[in-house]
Amino acid sequence: MNIFYGKAALIDFLKSIKTTHSTIGFVPTMGALHQGHLALMQKSLYENEHTVVSIFVNPTQFNNPEDLAKYPRTLEEDVKKLTALSPKIILYAPTVEDIYDGQPVSQSFDFDGLENQMEGKFRPGHFNGVGTIVKRLFEIVEPTNAYFGEKDFQQLQIVKKMVAKNNLKVNVVGCPIYREPNNLAMSSRNERLSDHERETAAIIFQTLKIAKEKFKSKSATSVSEWVQKSFEKNPMLILEYFVIADEATLLPCLRKNKNKKCRAFIAIVVNNIRLIDTISLN
Ligand code: PAJ
Repeated sequence: MNIFYGKAALIDFLKSIKTTHSTIGFVPTMGALHQGHLALMQKSLYENEHTVVSIFVNPTQFNNPEDLAKYPRTLEEDVKKLTALSPKIILYAPTVEDIYDGQPVSQSFDFDGLENQMEGKFRPGHFNGVGTIVKRLFEIVEPTNAYFGEKDFQQLQIVKKMVAKNNLKVNVVGCPIYREPNNLAMSSRNERLSDHERETAAIIFQTLKIAKEKFKSKSATSVSEWVQKSFEKNPMLILEYFVIADEATLLPCLRKNKNKKCRAFIAIVVNNIRLIDTISLN
């Protein structure tokens, strides 16, 4: 597998393999790879001639220094997983210096309000950090298609908005959420949960499924109240937010409307570890 730690060598290599018709698929990640990441890569390998994967724990998108310090960094194991998946994968694992030239600061973006909801409210500056790194990586890799998980649905919508507003020539592809056997959404942060916390966290998706059922006959407000009460019974899982929102605007879905796609979004804190999940409602 070809591994690059600096952008100059990666850009040269991509130039040498690109032809006028070849397609480049790109999967940006922060490493600690799990099956959810690998599923995005499988799709990219299937749909493109070349696939670039990046592994970079981006400091500018962490609003909480403890979260950044504790974020798992497992490059050696990640390389083994990538090689087993396909030796064709081109890995870009840059240093902070290579990406930010000594200035790890975010650009300021206007995502038409998408950045002010949910994760944006609870993680100030997070989406400026995500926008900065994804734009930077797109400029370096110049992908035809870029793959993002629906697990981070707000991030997916924000990347699509950034691409549209900057007229970038990349097709952003959303991919379904990959789950553990107990239906907990896979996440690099799950590694930090104890066995008991991991088992208990199964309640998150169970609650989303019941909420979806209830939303067929009840209002968003009444479903939200029910979710809030359910988590009050379980002190191990602290509910940060539960929101039913319009997929396009991410604004709360106050009234049901056949033309509006509604989705439930949840963030839970277990022993200082933040877990998010989402489900489409109609
Ligand atoms: P990271 O959390 O490593 O996720 C990388 C990609 O994998 C994202 O598009 C995310 O939505 C997707 N993903 C994570 N868990 C998934 C799951 N269980 N099922 C399907 N897809 C899943 O998201 C980031 O990194 C960063 O913000 C990044 C975009 C790389 C910018 O730094």
